[in-house]
Amino acid sequence: MTLAVSGTLMQTPAPDRLTVADAVVEVDSTGAITAVHDRSTPEGAAAGQSALAAASERVELAPSTLLLPGLVDMHIHAPQWPQLGTGLDLPLERWLFEYTFPLEARYADHDFAAAVWDDMVPTLLAGGTTTAVYYSSNHLDATTSLARACARHGQRALVGRVAMDHPEGTPAWYRDATAAAGVDASARSIEAVAALRSPLVEPIITPRFTPACTDGLLQGLGELAEATGVRVQTHCAESDWHCGYAIERFGTSDPRALDRFGLLRPRTVLAHSDHLTDFEMAMAADRRAGVAHCPLSNSYFANAVFRVRQALAVGTGVGLGSDIAGGARPGLLGVCQDAVTVSRMLEDGVDPALGPAQRGVPDSRIDTVTAFWLATAGGASVVDLPVGLIEPGRRFDAMAVRLDRPGGLIRTWESIDDDARIFEKVVRLATADDISHVWVDGTSVKPGRFPVRDRRRQH
Ligand code: GUN
Ligand code: FE
Repeated sequence: MTLAVSGTLMQTPAPDRLTVADAVVEVDSTGAITAVHDRSTPEGAAAGQSALAAASERVELAPSTLLLPGLVDMHIHAPQWPQLGTGLDLPLERWLFEYTFPLEARYADHDFAAAVWDDMVPTLLAGGTTTAVYYSSNHLDATTSLARACARHGQRALVGRVAMDHPEGTPAWYRDATAAAGVDASARSIEAVAALRSPLVEPIITPRFTPACTDGLLQGLGELAEATGVRVQTHCAESDWHCGYAIERFGTSDPRALDRFGLLRPRTVLAHSDHLTDFEMAMAADRRAGVAHCPLSNSYFANAVFRVRQALAVGTGVGLGSDIAGGARPGLLGVCQDAVTVSRMLEDGVDPALGPAQRGVPDSRIDTVTAFWLATAGGASVVDLPVGLIEPGRRFDAMAVRLDRPGGLIRTWESIDDDARIFEKVVRLATADDISHVWVDGTSVKPGRFPVRDRRRQH
């Protein structure tokens, strides 16, 4: 089965660069993009026509529908899906113990876990999240079943069993019994995910964050990463409390402590990281680790705004994360909007009692083009997955967004809207209802309808 898709292709190959082309994308039977023909030239138009004629499946998008790369959610807590939209009244350290650990502990129940995954994964796909970097729960079985759900619904994913054993940083009823048990279960989870042999799903080593992990567990997971080459994810320098905790326990900052344990490695995802100094951003870049910027969640928990522009300037990789359920927004286009908004607040500052010169951090703003780059090519590059851009050699992970849908919010006005404005409207205004097609690895995965089930009756 080969596929050819024609339409207006909009994408962001660099943080400040939007490209627009009338394109035909050729996809081979494995889901790889083999050619992108630009129909603005006669040769490109002819090649595109032959590609459409030769493909076994053709999708010719209407001029009022745009083709875009799929979204890469770099940080999402799958078991927190049932509390999406709630519980953001407490600071992080209390939110974890009072709301989140009790919910995550329920994933010992396999049926409950499976019901959540089967609700969450198709909903995220419908919103254009073609890749998700998941924290699962502490349970081996629930984690394997999350990986299986991603494979079955067709979502590309990195799936991590959460390791956490600290006697003070975790409750007795939700932790690994010892550091050795945590390392062992993490190794077994890697094997279980790999045993699914899905081309879409890979494991990721997941120490929750330093306050939840003993030195033995952090060290053991650093060694496991070195021995297996499997990617690592953790929360880093998220809040004042988290940073102060690290200084007190390790006598150094959180990112430096992670580095000592061998956890700052190529492709490591450092969630949040809004308190990184310039030096620590450069250190992360040197180790080829990157940041999952979670702007909405940071507004509740982090006491600071991540400095995207400064990170990109020193060469640190950055992507975007929803941080469900610390962030109450499942669609990554909305998170793009949050990233733009918080960057403007960082640049201008927020306290009107201060004069404009003292209020903010100059040169901090990002625009929708940069935010979309973070949500696609930026994130893909941190975790080194061949997605995020529609170009030969990458996998065909993409979405189509309808403009001017009756009942939708995106309105285009001839003689007023150019391509750049239309792109801005899509990033700011599109919802899952505007997304008509989603492909992962060349396969159409947009669910026909949102799954409808009375979960309260079942659980
Ligand atoms: N730090 C440790 N665990 C978590 C979590 O679940 N969410 C967020 N935002 N921060 C964390
Ligand atoms: Fe998180």
